Amino acid sequence: MNINTTNTSFRKLYAFGTKLPIDLSLSENPLGCSPKVSSVLKNLTQADFFDYPDPDCNQLKKLISRRFEINADSIFVANGSEAIIKLIPQVMLKPGDEVIVPRLTFPMFEIAARMSNAKIVSSEMTPDFDIDLKDIKSKITQKTKLIFICNPNNPTGKVIPQKAILDLVKTTKANIIVDEANIEFGGQTVITETNRFKNLIVLRTFSKGFGLAGLRIGFCVASKNIVRLLQQASQPFPVATVAEKAALVAFADTQFIKKTKEFMKSEREFLNRELKKRGFEVVRSEANNLLVVIPPFIPDLVRRLSEKGVSVVDSSAFNLNEVKFFRVSPRLREVNRKFINVIDQILSELGK
Ligand SMILES: Cc1ncc(COP(=O)(O)O)c(C=O)c1O
Repeated sequence: MNINTTNTSFRKLYAFGTKLPIDLSLSENPLGCSPKVSSVLKNLTQADFFDYPDPDCNQLKKLISRRFEINADSIFVANGSEAIIKLIPQVMLKPGDEVIVPRLTFPMFEIAARMSNAKIVSSEMTPDFDIDLKDIKSKITQKTKLIFICNPNNPTGKVIPQKAILDLVKTTKANIIVDEANIEFGGQTVITETNRFKNLIVLRTFSKGFGLAGLRIGFCVASKNIVRLLQQASQPFPVATVAEKAALVAFADTQFIKKTKEFMKSEREFLNRELKKRGFEVVRSEANNLLVVIPPFIPDLVRRLSEKGVSVVDSSAFNLNEVKFFRVSPRLREVNRKFINVIDQILSELGK
């Protein structure tokens, strides 16, 4: 069989880049996951491996439903939120439907919508790299079926006020997908508002703040009808038993999330300060990603970093071609320091 490499493919996502020894590329939790997860792993039995898992993750749905005061029928759990990002366009779009996607955001939204033969309508960013809700509103037509919003946004870490998102939800019949993958680090959730608005879909993951990226588990909250559609189109047993068990414990450990949020704030501030001292423009993030604009006096910075063993995400992974930048996700202080030392070496080699 011939593989057509020009086809739209998730393999084009930055997630498939190489991780080098000083790795600040993917936004995993540098603190790992809740220490309580280890006790789950110790207490696993053989049945957790040989029995098929609960197809609906009912225990986890119960916990989520209690925390956010939403009906369990409005929750869909899957093997990573990316599985849901792929499934939503599949079940909700027909060819030619329009999907609005901000130009600078998680690239998977656009790839998934393209795979369903939707027409992508790009929304511009504001000069401060914010998602421009006014521009999004101006681009809504009769054919707009989905609008993707990421809050806090990836790769900027910028947040959108809750009220502004709800204003958008109220002004259109299109379904608004709010991806809150990084909400544990900053910003206000709109998850409970799914009780009021049938066109609001909120995505969550256990990969970021909860530190369970390797287990592949995420969920969405939406109207019962949308959840039913997702269940119909989903694999029968999307989530492994061990993933659900770990998620149950991680979700309950609110102390670990608090610690993670404080840790991320201090490392974000460290990198922000050190990079600014060296002449970089750093976009003001409230989450776990920092967008760093590359000054013209440092040519090929990402290549130079990679030659010295540092991995970051290059701007070419995103859709905003006018600005040269990279994205870093803060790590432990020791790694962040090594990264800054490499930047210093590069500046010194360039005589700056
Ligand atoms: C904004 C955003 N949404 C979703 C995902 C995918 O998360 P998951 O690991 O749950 O598939 C990512 C991963 O990088 C992300 O940055």
